[in-house]
Amino acid sequence: MNTLDSLRAEFLAALAAAADREALAAVHQGWLGRKGRLQDLFKQMRELPAEERPAFGAQINVLKEELEAVFMARQEELLNREGVARVDLTLPGHPVRTGSLHPLQQILDRITGIFTRMGFTVEDGPEVETERYNFDMLNTPFWHPARMESDSLYLQQGHMLRTETSPVQIRVLEQVKPPVRIIAPGRVYRNDKPDASHSPMFMQVEGLYVDHGVTFADLKGTLLEFYRRMFGPDTRLRFRPHFFPFTEPSAEVDVSCIFCGGAGCRVCKHSGWLEMGGSGLVDPAVLTGVDLDPEEWTGFAFGLGVERMAMLLYGVDDIRLFYENDWRFLEQF
Ligand code: DAH
Repeated sequence: MNTLDSLRAEFLAALAAAADREALAAVHQGWLGRKGRLQDLFKQMRELPAEERPAFGAQINVLKEELEAVFMARQEELLNREGVARVDLTLPGHPVRTGSLHPLQQILDRITGIFTRMGFTVEDGPEVETERYNFDMLNTPFWHPARMESDSLYLQQGHMLRTETSPVQIRVLEQVKPPVRIIAPGRVYRNDKPDASHSPMFMQVEGLYVDHGVTFADLKGTLLEFYRRMFGPDTRLRFRPHFFPFTEPSAEVDVSCIFCGGAGCRVCKHSGWLEMGGSGLVDPAVLTGVDLDPEEWTGFAFGLGVERMAMLLYGVDDIRLFYENDWRFLEQF
């Protein structure tokens, strides 16, 4: 037993003195290895009387386990210390990528910034809509071509993915009494095959102003002011007569080409104009549908394409890039 105690003491001293890998390896070999001191003990055991051997063998095993544990701890301590010393401070660091706002979000922020400064508030509506809000309440009869299965994405029980942000008009008018002055940006869905200018999901900004005596001149003034702040003070507007079920009269809105100023270029296909969206005066049928007297209240509405503005302002020629989320594209904004 004394042998075991002094062996332990010797081992601990040697281990404490071992300051590098080689010294450590030598300690392991000298004590715990196949020809080490503990192995010698097992040999010496044979010289003991037979009845003492089992107890002594058990003692050696306990000691061996103890020494191995102490050794492992010391080894780990040394390697850790070495690991720190091995850090090469001259190596270049790992780059930290900072995120950035998605280009569409940046355009949306500009749009909402302009309209809120003009007194509009921002409203929200569900992307899963009912046919009632997406079509019926917007004066779109059941036989209207926009309602065809081939154009819209229908869900169960009268639900669908909204094809336009216009249903937010109804939701707002059901909730608050005019005067109402809101915009509603958001995603809309159509059954379109993706290509450079089509995406089954895209964004619109709806606008609605209902008050006493709102006229088409208010619509023109509001949109002109908006587009001048968006595209620059020389921007001109053109309203082309059109038809939408929820406005009367209705018009499509063009802006003078932001690249050639209207002279004609490749982007505007030499017309001088760029199509931006739809607009009009709220149809009396829509107002009566939400219990507003069209003799008392009038309003204008518009729906503008967000990607269109982003593509023009950023010079992007494929709408799909906005939804692929390739960081090589996104990090450029
Ligand atoms: N909802 C129409 C569309 O998606 C756009 C639109 C046109 C919205 C005229 C309006 C409007 O509010 O007055 O094609």
